Amino acid sequence: MKQSANQSQKPLTANVNAENNLEIGGCDLVELADKYGTPLYVLDEATIRAICNDYKNAFKSYSKTSIMYASKALCTSALVKILDSEGLGFDVVSGGEIYTVYKAGVDMSKVLFNGNNKSFDELNLALDLGVGRISVDNFYELALLNTIAQNKNKTVDILLRITPGIECHTHHYIQTGHLDSKFGFDLTQVDDAIELILNEYTNLKLHGLHAHIGSQIFETSIYADEIDILCSEIARIDKKFNIILNEINIGGGLGVKYMQKDEPPSTYEIGNLIIDKLNESVKKYGIETPRIFLEPGRSIISFAGVTLYTVGSSKQVPNGRKYVAVDGGMSDNPRPSLYQAEYYAQVANKKEDTQTEDVTICGRFCESGDILIQNINLPKLDEGDILCVFNTGAYNYSMASNYNRVEKPAMVLVNDGTSDEIVKRETLDDLIRQDIIPDRLRK
Ligand code: LLP
Repeated sequence: MKQSANQSQKPLTANVNAENNLEIGGCDLVELADKYGTPLYVLDEATIRAICNDYKNAFKSYSKTSIMYASKALCTSALVKILDSEGLGFDVVSGGEIYTVYKAGVDMSKVLFNGNNKSFDELNLALDLGVGRISVDNFYELALLNTIAQNKNKTVDILLRITPGIECHTHHYIQTGHLDSKFGFDLTQVDDAIELILNEYTNLKLHGLHAHIGSQIFETSIYADEIDILCSEIARIDKKFNIILNEINIGGGLGVKYMQKDEPPSTYEIGNLIIDKLNESVKKYGIETPRIFLEPGRSIISFAGVTLYTVGSSKQVPNGRKYVAVDGGMSDNPRPSLYQAEYYAQVANKKEDTQTEDVTICGRFCESGDILIQNINLPKLDEGDILCVFNTGAYNYSMASNYNRVEKPAMVLVNDGTSDEIVKRETLDDLIRQDIIPDRLRK
């Protein structure tokens, strides 16, 4: 089966150049580090466009497909522009994400608003800007949204988020009757929600059902089970309430290759499986061919991104391991300390075949848990070397913090030998910009 870009551990343009340095998008990483400073997020435009094409081609034969990028993975204005130009829609989960895509000029009918506790202000904004679909998560939100819609004299197009009783543990999954989840309506609550929509909340127009079963998924059959449940629910609801629901949103979750051992399926593999399953379910349950929404986040952006760090201090623990510290860590990439996530790295300015050693790459933050890579064999590291950590495009910048009052890094977009800064590095003044000293303390 055809490969897709999410199966690559590195950006597709990663290369070793004539200077023996790593390059991405035709840009020498050592030069980028020098020009923009480190830590530095680097995004490869060619890889982003390649995976968009992989998704589009994989679903080409099913015309009712809407690919809605899950902005939570990484949301910056320039990235939104690229994905918009590729024809993707956007799954957003906050006023901030709504505002970012709106300001980037996205047609707001291609935006879908998710979340388990959307605020009054966020729902207001979504309605004012004409967000295309709102996936309603719970009874409280049904009532709130209907009131807001009534006040604006609008009808809102919604999906219902349900918990289909499938739980993903990345490499295997379980199916249960109920799920202990903060998201969505339990299957036993769906009918009550529909009664309310049909009889009381008449400013809401229900189009279909939404579910999301997990993230970093390698097991394709989980999607087949999910589609079966969503389609059978739609058929049951159509029959019981005499309404036609013709949209299903299966969420995101396709995995990526953080480590050599990771073998995520390709977009083509899940595309075939999803389309086959949809066609089968349409026949099996006698329903209209539904529009399908996909919400990929990680599998659009993770492998297009790397983070560059400069090596600083190191410490050899007597009879123990060697720690090598870089100038970033848990504030620009909280995933290792939060999830014990593993990352692969290379030294941008050193050939792999020089003398190597096993080291632990740690960050610069005041916490023992601030370890980026527990154990990796790398060319012997010296201060000033540039370390390139791969697969940091998703859930790194979007989850970054200012822990220890450290400035968030800049981000550059590389393509065909050019680099453009798309997020400015924070300054010390940025760090105190929101601070207020009350007058009585100003003596
Ligand atoms: N749709 C919904 C409703 C979601 O909750 C999520 C992710 C996605 C789509 C996108 O999933 P993806 O394709 O990226 O797997 N911070 C964690 C990941 C949390 C994902 C939460 N929901 C991490 O760094 O691994």
